[in-house]
Amino acid sequence: MSNFTILLSLQKIAGLLSLAGALIVVAVVVFLLISATKEEDKTTAKEKVYKLRGRYLWGIIVMAIVLLFISFKSLPYSHSKEKAAEEVTVVGYQWLWKMDKGVYNAKLEDFGGKNEIELPVNKSIKFIVTSTDVNHNFAIYNSAGVLVTQTQAMPQHKNILQYTFKEKGEYQILCLEYCGTAHDFMVGIIHIN
Ligand code: CUA
Repeated sequence: MSNFTILLSLQKIAGLLSLAGALIVVAVVVFLLISATKEEDKTTAKEKVYKLRGRYLWGIIVMAIVLLFISFKSLPYSHSKEKAAEEVTVVGYQWLWKMDKGVYNAKLEDFGGKNEIELPVNKSIKFIVTSTDVNHNFAIYNSAGVLVTQTQAMPQHKNILQYTFKEKGEYQILCLEYCGTAHDFMVGIIHIN
């Protein structure tokens, strides 16, 4: 079971629990109001409903906090502490991607990368992602067109994306943040060998 599948099933459980909780509360409220005929009964019923509502709210808050912590682990973002086998600098421009191996600290205008790169399979790759102009999003798709990982490419900021490609093949890079007229043309290729 992948992390993502676990996350999906956790979401389903959380959804079902809150739905069940909501239905119970509605049933109790309806029962209290129907069974209270006299005026004073109605006041007592109302008080009971308010008390129940307060408890229900606290229940939801506690459940939300617990589920938040459980599901943190399954978030599909890299939190790798392992040492990267390869470092790659990625720069977004309106409207193209440039990539090159190694850490680049000089002027971005002089950066000589290409929109195509070869990287090893089953090795931790550390992408250092930035932009020269506006926000872009460096998104990597596998050959089946499924998004495998992504991060923002922001001017004056370096985002680290660490990822291990488990399968050989051709991965496509698309821009996942609308960045102007030719946004759709910001395409790159990563060959994993
Ligand atoms: Cu760059 Cu959209």
